[in-house]
Amino acid sequence: MDNATTDQIIITKGITMINQLNDGHVIKTMMKEHEHILIILDELEELGLLLSDTDEKNYAGIVFKINQLSRKIISAEPHHKREEEVLFPVLKNKGAVGPTQHMEMEHEIMREIKHKLKEETNTIDENLNEKLANISSLINELCNILKQHIYKENTVLYPLALNLISDESIWIKMKNKCDEIGYCCFCPNTLELDQHVVSE
Ligand SMILES: [Fe+2]
Repeated sequence: MDNATTDQIIITKGITMINQLNDGHVIKTMMKEHEHILIILDELEELGLLLSDTDEKNYAGIVFKINQLSRKIISAEPHHKREEEVLFPVLKNKGAVGPTQHMEMEHEIMREIKHKLKEETNTIDENLNEKLANISSLINELCNILKQHIYKENTVLYPLALNLISDESIWIKMKNKCDEIGYCCFCPNTLELDQHVVSE
């Protein structure tokens, strides 16, 4: 069996494990949040394409929508906080130091890009072409890194967590800490995206 086939089997097994978890499980909630984040990223990508193909009078509306979506992505911070403060420390204790450090580093990079995108779309000034080019490249950067990041967590890190943390009482303690940190505006109770504007 070649490496690609072996990898695919491991990934499929991992996803099956996660699908079998009860609603409310720390990892199941994180997976659901990923689904919502991916929907937001798709919307952002579509707006990025529109931006490169619209006339001047429509720019403002598109930039406004991108600003709203950047705020929504920023509001997913409790998701990353739960990973960093609850999941990753337990994984590090179990010896999975490298993968968690890599994820933390990507979180930092993504935080910076999300905030830059929000800042860049807060206003429209005179240097329109430069601004639009910046917005497009920030959207591309964010979508690429965040989609790959989610794929790695779904297929490698979360299955690894389920394999390494077999004691149910640890998951219960982790769930309590997650509840203290809180959840995103779009999860875990509904699959409908919350349309309210995040006023961060
Ligand atoms: Fe995540």
